[in-house]
Amino acid sequence: MERFSAWLDRSSLWVALAAAWVATLGSLYFSEVAGFLPCTLCWYQRILMYPLALLLAVGLLRRDPHLPALVLPFSLTGLGFATYHYLLEKTDIFGQPTACQAGVSCVTAWINWFGFITIPFLALVGFLTITVMTAIALNAGEPDPDVDAPAPWLPVGAIVGLALLAYAGLAWANRPVQATTLIFPIADASAAAQQSRLSPETASPASEATAQAELAAAGARLYQTACAACHGAEGEGVAGIGNALVHNEFVHAATDAELAAFVRAGRAAADPANQSGVAMPPSGGRPDLTDHELLAIIHFLRVGFITPAESAGEAD
Ligand code: HEC
Repeated sequence: MERFSAWLDRSSLWVALAAAWVATLGSLYFSEVAGFLPCTLCWYQRILMYPLALLLAVGLLRRDPHLPALVLPFSLTGLGFATYHYLLEKTDIFGQPTACQAGVSCVTAWINWFGFITIPFLALVGFLTITVMTAIALNAGEPDPDVDAPAPWLPVGAIVGLALLAYAGLAWANRPVQATTLIFPIADASAAAQQSRLSPETASPASEATAQAELAAAGARLYQTACAACHGAEGEGVAGIGNALVHNEFVHAATDAELAAFVRAGRAAADPANQSGVAMPPSGGRPDLTDHELLAIIHFLRVGFITPAESAGEAD
C-alpha cells in the first residue's frame, strides 16, 4: 500500500495523460470511424478534453510544477458538462434539453453498453480520472528531480503522435475516392439488379439478393449519419426530435418517389401536414445526398430495421 501510494504520487499525471489520450482517441473513433454525430454538449466536452492530451504531455515534458493548476480548470469544467449530459440522458430532472434544440439531439443513445455506459458516461469517467489524478499530484507537491527521472520520449511521442493522427485524419476525410466509394456500390448494385431482371440467362435469385443486400447496407450507413440523430438508430424515433419510422404508415403507403420527394422537401413546423410541431429540414439537413443515396436510404427504411417482433421471431 505504501509503495502503491508512493508510485501513485509519482505517476498520477502520467495516468491522467493516458486517460486524456484514451478519451480523445475514443471520441475521434466514435465520430470519424463509427459515424456518430457529436451534439452541441458533446462538442463542449471535446473542447475541454482534447487540449488536455497536449497540455499534460507538454507539462510532463517540461516537468512544470504548475501543471495541476492548468489541468484542473479544464477537467473540472468538463466533469460538470459530462455529469449534466449523463443526467440529461438517463433521468428527467432537467426535463427537455435546452442545449441541442436544433441539429443533433443530446439524448440520442449512440451506444448503451450494459444499459448504463453511454458516450457521456465515458466522458464523465475520463474527466473524473484526470481530476482525481491531478488532485493527487497537487497534493504530492513538486516532483523530486532525483527520483523522477524524466522519460521525455513519452510526451514527445504523444505530441508527435497527435499531430500525425490529425494529418492522417485530414488526408482520410479529403480522400478523392470518397464520393465514388459511397455511390458506385449503390449504382452497381441497382445496375446488377436491373441486369439480372433484363437477361434471364444471367438472372439468378442469388445475385439479385446480393444487390438488394448491398443497397440496404449502403442505405443503413447513410441512414445512421443523416437520419438516425432525429429518427433513432433503430428508427424508433427520438422524443421531441423526430417520429418513429418503423411501422410508419406513411413510409409503408408512399412509393419510393413520393418518399424521396418528401425527404428532399422536408416539412416545416408551420406546414399544415406537420403532426409534431417539429420541423424536418430539407433532405434531413443533408443537401449533399444524391438521388442514388436517397433511394438507398429509402430501401433501407423498408427492409432494414429489425423490429422486436422480428428478432423475437428469429430467436424461436
Ligand atoms: C433534424 C431532425 C431530422 C432529421 C435529421 C431527419 N428528420 Fe425526418 N422528420 C423529422 C421530424 C421532426 C419529422 C416529423 C414532422 C411532422 O411532425 O410531421 C420527420 C418526418 C419524417 C418522415 C415522415 C414520417 C411521417 O410519419 O410522417 C419521413 C419518411 C422522414 N422524416 C424521413 C427522414 C429521412 C430518410 C431522413 C434522413 C435522410 C430524415 N428524415 C432526417 C426530423 C428529422
